[in-house]
Amino acid sequence: MRDQKDLLLAFEDFLKQHLPKVESFHPHFNTALSEMLRVGGKRFRPLLLLCVVDRLKPLLTKNAMYIALALEMMHTYSLIHDDLPSMDNADTRRGHPTLHVSYDEVTAVLVGDALNTHAFYLITNAPLSADIKVELTSILSKDAGIYGMVLGQACDCFFENKKLSFDELTFLHIHKTAKLIATSLLMGGIICELDAKSKDILYDFGLKLGLLFQIQDDIIDATLSSQEAGKPTQNDTQKNSFVNLLGLKGAQEEKKKMIDELHVACSTLDERLALFLQEIIKKYFKKD
Ligand code: IPE
Ligand code: IPE
Ligand code: MG
Ligand code: MG
Ligand code: MG
Repeated sequence: MRDQKDLLLAFEDFLKQHLPKVESFHPHFNTALSEMLRVGGKRFRPLLLLCVVDRLKPLLTKNAMYIALALEMMHTYSLIHDDLPSMDNADTRRGHPTLHVSYDEVTAVLVGDALNTHAFYLITNAPLSADIKVELTSILSKDAGIYGMVLGQACDCFFENKKLSFDELTFLHIHKTAKLIATSLLMGGIICELDAKSKDILYDFGLKLGLLFQIQDDIIDATLSSQEAGKPTQNDTQKNSFVNLLGLKGAQEEKKKMIDELHVACSTLDERLALFLQEIIKKYFKKD
């Protein structure tokens, strides 16, 4: 069993060795394909998946790396498309110029498409049983696709400049962000072959954690410089962000409340896993 730092280091190592690449005469396709994976990111989603496996079935951690990388690819594709001029029009990401700035829009669209598809190539070729891989494929395509992230992004963009109610806003953020985070924990649970009830508990915990993640992301937009965030900030003025609906103070209060609720919810989880998740929450969510 490893600590958070060791797991993250092991993941970075694995990622470096398994960056997607393909033989061709295209002058920059390979560089662009792995660029946004290479330049950084908090690796929050792979860490969640790996923490479940490493606490509950540590012998499987190595094999689970393929799935953790697939998840990071899916997330990275969503960021590349999120940054496109037709969506959030962001010129930096992870402290680097976005792909449509370094190359062109066609490259950014196609690299996003490629990472999305390749995530499923990685899962289906991973050293895990066929049953587990079918379940992983099903759940990731559900929560990253039309039942999750894609629908959330569609609502996020369509309702710019149109104020949503708190319930609608929650629906948007559950789909846009929370489901992929919940699925990160659930995919760990699937690899460990947990029973249905334990998987439901993990997923519900992940939905709460995902909402907290988006509240914090909205606070980052309002309070950090672009340099500190590694991406444009003050960029959510037309968005249905938690800060725009609740005010900065209100969003910060909501964040604190959710951190407390998550600590309480940890009591529903396996004790070893709960301790690890509490450490993750401490590291990723400072009470400001
Ligand atoms: C940003 O995700 C997009 C959201 C869903 C809020 P992250 O904050 O995890 O971005 P990286 O992976 O660290 O760059
Ligand atoms: C994006 O949310 C969520 C995704 C599905 C990529 P944001 O638009 O708030 O993410 P950032 O702030 O650009 O990272
Ligand atoms: Mg966006
Ligand atoms: Mg954005
Ligand atoms: Mg944001």
